[in-house]
Amino acid sequence: LTRMIIDCDTGIDDALAILYALRTPGVVIEGITMVFGNTSVEQAADNTLRLLDLAKPDYEIPVAIGASKALARELGGFSPHVHGKNGIGDVQLPASSRRPVKENAAAFIVRLANEHPGEIVLVTLGRLTNLAQALELDPDLTAKLKKVVVMGGTIFKPGNVTPVAEANLWGDPLAADRVFTSGLPVLMVGLDVTLETLITSEHLELLKRHGKEENRAVIEFMDQSLQHYFHFYREANYIINAAPMHDPLALMAALHPDLLTCRQMKVRVEHQGEHTSGMVVADLRAQPKTGEFIEVAVGVDARRALGVFLSAFM
Ligand code: BDR
Ligand code: CA
Repeated sequence: LTRMIIDCDTGIDDALAILYALRTPGVVIEGITMVFGNTSVEQAADNTLRLLDLAKPDYEIPVAIGASKALARELGGFSPHVHGKNGIGDVQLPASSRRPVKENAAAFIVRLANEHPGEIVLVTLGRLTNLAQALELDPDLTAKLKKVVVMGGTIFKPGNVTPVAEANLWGDPLAADRVFTSGLPVLMVGLDVTLETLITSEHLELLKRHGKEENRAVIEFMDQSLQHYFHFYREANYIINAAPMHDPLALMAALHPDLLTCRQMKVRVEHQGEHTSGMVVADLRAQPKTGEFIEVAVGVDARRALGVFLSAFM
């Protein structure tokens, strides 16, 4: 049994990650905590509640609202060009009658980690603001979380917001630096591996043909929202009828670490640079001195990862 908290900015690929977790036996989602990013934090929460209604898990999953801006600086806007005006590719899901819980996301993470010390796997799929705030509330969190899997950053590939920065780290680089140097057991799943793991229209065809009857509605949602994602990746990245599985890969890695090849690296995240904010500065020298060790995914078995993802719905 894996007790999991998903911290995210729902988002097309966040939605795919959540759906995958919901359809994976042995995973108990203790809560979904929300952060600004792809869209506003309120919109992200609304999307998440609608998605949960669509997927109908057989237990109630609390949704907690968190940070609406970065720790230190006001950064421009959300990403409607990537994720649509509503964050989920402008797919209209019925409004939910449920509301987010009153507790703030950071407090929620701290409480759960204290209730289940050493058991919670935290998967972050957005800015690291909530987790940085949780560390401020409880510095001993570093010893209480079992594992933190972070979708974000890049070492060897170019960035996706600036030449050197990936969106989730770029959106709150100070928070990212605090998390990466905190001593938390971090696994970074960044663009180095997510850009290698593409879901294609052929994969969607397979899902539509072989998906379980009870998954019809969620597969229909994935298909519609991914059309939006495909459009963006075609226009901006020359990737045709396919899109990277950023957030789903991080979630899968939390459950199947063997999908990835990893390397320990000492890292810092630049948060003051004019041209380099959000960049992961990895000390790859023979005798690394700068930063703290985290685990970084450098390789992925992409075919198997896609297989793991699709199988969850078939
Ligand atoms: C990350 O940024 C967001 O747009 C995605 O949801 C993903 O978490 C990829 O850089
Ligand atoms: Ca995300």
